[in-house]
Amino acid sequence: MSFDQTLESIFPEALEVPEEFQIKEIQQREYLINGEIRVWNGNSQDVFSPVYIKTNSGLIPKKLGSYPILTEKESLEALDAAKKAYDNGRGIWPTMTVEKRIKSLELFVYKMKEKRKEVVHILMWEICKNYADSCKEFDRTVEYINDTIHAYKELDRSSSRFHIEQGIIGQIRRAPLGVVLCMGPFNYPLNETFTTLIPALIMGNTTIFKPAKFGTLLFQPLLQAFQESFPKGVVNILYGEGHKVVPPLMSSGAVDVFAFIGSAKAANSLQKLHPKPNRLRSVLGLGAKNPAIVLKDADMDLTISECLLGSLSYNGQRCTALKILFVQRTIIDEFIQKFTSAVSNLKFGMPWVPGISITPLPEPNKTGHMKELIDNAVSHGAKVVNPDGGKSNASLMFPAVLYPVSSKMKIYTEEQFGPIVPIVAFDDISEPIQYINDSDVGQQASIFGKDPAIMGQLIDPLVNQVCRLNINSQCQRGPDSFPFTGRKDSAEGTLSTGDALRVFSIRTLVAAKTQDVNKELLSQIIRERKSNFLSTDYIF
Ligand code: G3H
Repeated sequence: MSFDQTLESIFPEALEVPEEFQIKEIQQREYLINGEIRVWNGNSQDVFSPVYIKTNSGLIPKKLGSYPILTEKESLEALDAAKKAYDNGRGIWPTMTVEKRIKSLELFVYKMKEKRKEVVHILMWEICKNYADSCKEFDRTVEYINDTIHAYKELDRSSSRFHIEQGIIGQIRRAPLGVVLCMGPFNYPLNETFTTLIPALIMGNTTIFKPAKFGTLLFQPLLQAFQESFPKGVVNILYGEGHKVVPPLMSSGAVDVFAFIGSAKAANSLQKLHPKPNRLRSVLGLGAKNPAIVLKDADMDLTISECLLGSLSYNGQRCTALKILFVQRTIIDEFIQKFTSAVSNLKFGMPWVPGISITPLPEPNKTGHMKELIDNAVSHGAKVVNPDGGKSNASLMFPAVLYPVSSKMKIYTEEQFGPIVPIVAFDDISEPIQYINDSDVGQQASIFGKDPAIMGQLIDPLVNQVCRLNINSQCQRGPDSFPFTGRKDSAEGTLSTGDALRVFSIRTLVAAKTQDVNKELLSQIIRERKSNFLSTDYIF
């Protein structure tokens, strides 16, 4: 079959979906607020998969079900529940002992694991991440929760002692901040939502989380686990249209932490609604345009395989993806020949097919937007240099490799978040460095080469422009114990299993002059376990 015929027939008929991957529609009517799983009788949002189904009347998107479109009223009820559960820091959850909070998290992770199959299945259908990577997203999230618990125990052990300095005795711990609003992105709807929700919870905050626009139904199997694992009001899940249910939360002034992963534009417009900007803390993961710099002595095979993974895994829909490749001109022909042949070998199709790389895209008319970027680049002198690059059928687009790319084209600076790989040839290393300096974003970069002197010279200026420099390796977030952040417009705050505990808490201390009366009082409080904060308990 020719490429065009394969692409034309890429979507299955309903019965061609393998039995183990068939999905029944989920008409979700339940939502979780204030510890109650309530039933919604109002409007609901239909959910369609990026997968189309071949029918006699043409391709139609596979319907996956629907979820409640809650309104401002439920949004404010969720806020009220979270505020009451926090109760100015006097609620059951923020004052609970560390050990008990850990027990709740452990119970949740146990119940969550029981739902692995369902969640992975829905995740794969909702966002078309291939099945192996959908499983990985689930498992990585479970591991993240376990590592967060471990990091919290470490943090608590180091805080379980008193300090005596300059005649003052004190115990310093990290305390929660209040009500946290968590919003994750569609490309990691489970993992990235939980990388803020879980640390926020374990530190004693109460939460409202809004699932991403795509990747919403996958939380339905977890509603009960949330309800059964946490005291009422500690986790509230808000369904509906973001532009209707989120602004009332922010303009109420009662959100203490805004944890958001998505676009800078959306984050900034929501932040502006908060009437008390100094009360609001933000933990943001925003845009990125991570470049690769390929030097003439780079190991070609290794570089090709890392650049391929970096630019096109999950169709390039990763915030850490390599979104522009700078290649030294003396090796550009060889690089393009090898890179485009590696792209041609990528399998495209349905997410359940083993070994599939390129899958349908969830955002409506994403292929249309990709085409505009390609056309714009072509009108300024670039060519699609790989066979069949940019060809599409409905929601699926085969990747386009563009060369030569220049600053006149939109793709030079715009974050494509999709299957386009722009390549720029450079003569002098100052050119990609200038690009990074001029960029409005600064998350990560990759450099490929072997000469220690040149690599060393590149490391020093670049580490002050981005927050992770990858040597002969693609850009990536993991391992999750490593700091994940960005400069400029890319991020605010640092997330890693350890750092996230810090961003969702604040150092608070109890201090007293070392007079006998105080020493005796503190000893008594500890001996008789009169406080959960003031305690020398050591968690093993
Ligand atoms: O979308 C951004 C993710 O944090 C990237 O994570 O590098 O592990 O794919 P990853």
